[in-house]
Amino acid sequence: MKIAIPKERRPNEARVAASPDTVKALVGLGASVAVEKGAGLSAACTDDAYKKAGASIAKDAKTAVGSADVVLKVQRPMAEGESTDEFAQLGKGTVLLALFDPLRDKAGVEAAAKAGVTAFAMEMIPRITRAQAMDVLSSQANLAGYKSVLDAAAEFGRAFPMMMTAAGTVAPARVLVMGAGVAGLQAIATARRLGAVVSATDVRPAAKEQVESLGASFVAVEDEEFKQAETAGGYAKEMSDEYKKKQAALIAETIAKQDIVITTALIPGRPAPKLIDEAMVKSMKPGSVIVDLAVENGGNCALSQAGKVVTKHGVKIVGHNNVPSRLAVDASALYAKNLLNFLKLIIDPEAKALKIDWEDEIIKGTCITRDGKVVHAQLGGEGG
Ligand code: NAI
Repeated sequence: MKIAIPKERRPNEARVAASPDTVKALVGLGASVAVEKGAGLSAACTDDAYKKAGASIAKDAKTAVGSADVVLKVQRPMAEGESTDEFAQLGKGTVLLALFDPLRDKAGVEAAAKAGVTAFAMEMIPRITRAQAMDVLSSQANLAGYKSVLDAAAEFGRAFPMMMTAAGTVAPARVLVMGAGVAGLQAIATARRLGAVVSATDVRPAAKEQVESLGASFVAVEDEEFKQAETAGGYAKEMSDEYKKKQAALIAETIAKQDIVITTALIPGRPAPKLIDEAMVKSMKPGSVIVDLAVENGGNCALSQAGKVVTKHGVKIVGHNNVPSRLAVDASALYAKNLLNFLKLIIDPEAKALKIDWEDEIIKGTCITRDGKVVHAQLGGEGG
């Protein structure tokens, strides 16, 4: 059983899909592992470290993935018409683990089907207890939440904690976190550690207790709709126009008093909800900072721009792409561990071969293409 790790080739992607630790574990499971030369360098994993862990170093991607049974990637391979056709290098029936963003990126799903690979979209891992150690959305969002606060602090011309000095008192920064899921909760904890006064908002009622347990105050319109706003999978629902209006009024009042706003609100398979309009940005004090972690999904702030830091009405609006990649070392280590935990589910260590239980809930929930077809029920396939 041969497992290959090619280098990531998309701009803004510094992560790698295996670490020396996970390579060692894969070799222990009976796999032979090939890593493309330099694949881990931007995440501080050297070729030497991979070699010591038991991998061979392949001179290029084609050599690495050529005869592989399993290919591990961070971003899905590029297809025909993108800068390199990475799918063309994969043999039919190759098991491919990667981020596909499949509910939005239909072209990627089609390309995987056309290439005949058995593709698993790691962001589709069901949110059940047994799969927690494979949950790439959580591992990456956690780091993004932390980094968003550091990015805000770097752009902010003032301090976070209250400081009482002989020259006068510095007031603590007021931080509002919008969306208190995995990224938002880590942003709250990080901002609190830096000494800010933190509040947070979410449409899921379960978030209230979590926000308060981190020492932040909860801001939300708590009506009947709010009490029903969580799906069985634990995600947010799209709210009614009436709720959005009430929420916007409360947020408008709250935002005007903030120094920093961090937005993380997402709804799976839909554009990010617009939570901050131009008038709200205008209402903030000059020098305030907004960090929009949802910018790649359309943005929570109407004025944020993907891949840019812009200043509008005296407010800096930060819209970095691929924030987990900005912490590539930790993000790679955790992502690689998520993949290893998934691989343990599909490798039979005694036979030293792949053994996939197609009826397993995690496999069914994650497999998007097989035998040249799109198979995932949410993508129009027949399931399994
Ligand atoms: P996400 O990344 O899809 O969304 C981020 C946050 O934005 C969510 O908390 C969502 O409720 C919020 N949001 C959506 N629309 C909003 C609006 N209009 N205004 C304000 N906030 C809005 O969600 P994430 O972070 O992936 O987590 C969702 C839930 O799943 C959380 O409760 C999390 O704790 C839970 N979870 C469960 C796991 C498990 O294995 N059981 C693993 C990971 C997360």
